[in-house]
Amino acid sequence: MLKIDHVSKVYQVGPQDFTALKDVNLEIEDGAFMSFVGPSGSGKTTLLNLLGGLDKPTNGHIVFRDYRLDDMSREELAEVRRKYIGFIFQSYNLLPVYTVYENILFPLLLNNEKESRVRQQVLDIIHAVGLDVEKNKKPAELSGGQCQRVAIARALVKKPDIVLADEPTANLDTENSLNILELMRELNRDFEAAFIFSTHDEKVTRFVNREVRLEDGRVISDTLKQETPA
Ligand SMILES: Nc1ncnc2c1ncn2[C@@H]1O[C@H](COP(=O)(O)OP(=O)(O)OP(=O)(O)O)[C@@H](O)[C@H]1O
Ligand SMILES: [Mg+2]
Repeated sequence: MLKIDHVSKVYQVGPQDFTALKDVNLEIEDGAFMSFVGPSGSGKTTLLNLLGGLDKPTNGHIVFRDYRLDDMSREELAEVRRKYIGFIFQSYNLLPVYTVYENILFPLLLNNEKESRVRQQVLDIIHAVGLDVEKNKKPAELSGGQCQRVAIARALVKKPDIVLADEPTANLDTENSLNILELMRELNRDFEAAFIFSTHDEKVTRFVNREVRLEDGRVISDTLKQETPA
């Protein structure tokens, strides 16, 4: 589904170049449930941003289905993101003036859907993440774990092929982290979307089927794992 071929990323910092990714090669399957791990600064967020078409590689190719992401304009990338890719950010990035329902509806409106046509779809995903009771609350009236559920629902509501999540459990306590990971694993199965995380969190390691370790912008290991029983 996704092929990362000899990808490097060089940032310009003042007069100096900084190489954040060095010759990264990966293939990612449909329905993957995997994580990028590694020390702070190793390139995890940079790589997620490239996979999601938020940024472009300096060298190499990123192929998603029939699209060459490294070769597309900003507008074309935005279109691919809108259709196929869901993002979950560490800080949730919810819209504070909107309710849970409206936050989750929002990406569908961006895809030119009519609310009357997608209302049930939004209510179904709200139910799937366990927020029926909270659907008319605003983000400030929710706990951190509940905000993360809204962010997950918002990423999934358009039925993306890929969900990219940068440190999805970083702001959650242990119990909430485990609940969120369990929920994401269920949604990975039910919605057949690939989930790709970056994380420092050792708990995440137990849930994923594949772990790619980065160090100084290079892939230093790529491990397939036995799925742990739920
Ligand atoms: N926009 C930028 N301009 C210049 N350098 C950057 C930029 N973004 C990231 N970097 C550098 O690239 C390297 C990789 O950053 P990245 O954010 O991908 O790391 P990370 O693995 O996600 O780290 P963390 O675990 O702290 O989130 C870092 O050394 C960082 O300073
Ligand atoms: Mg990061």
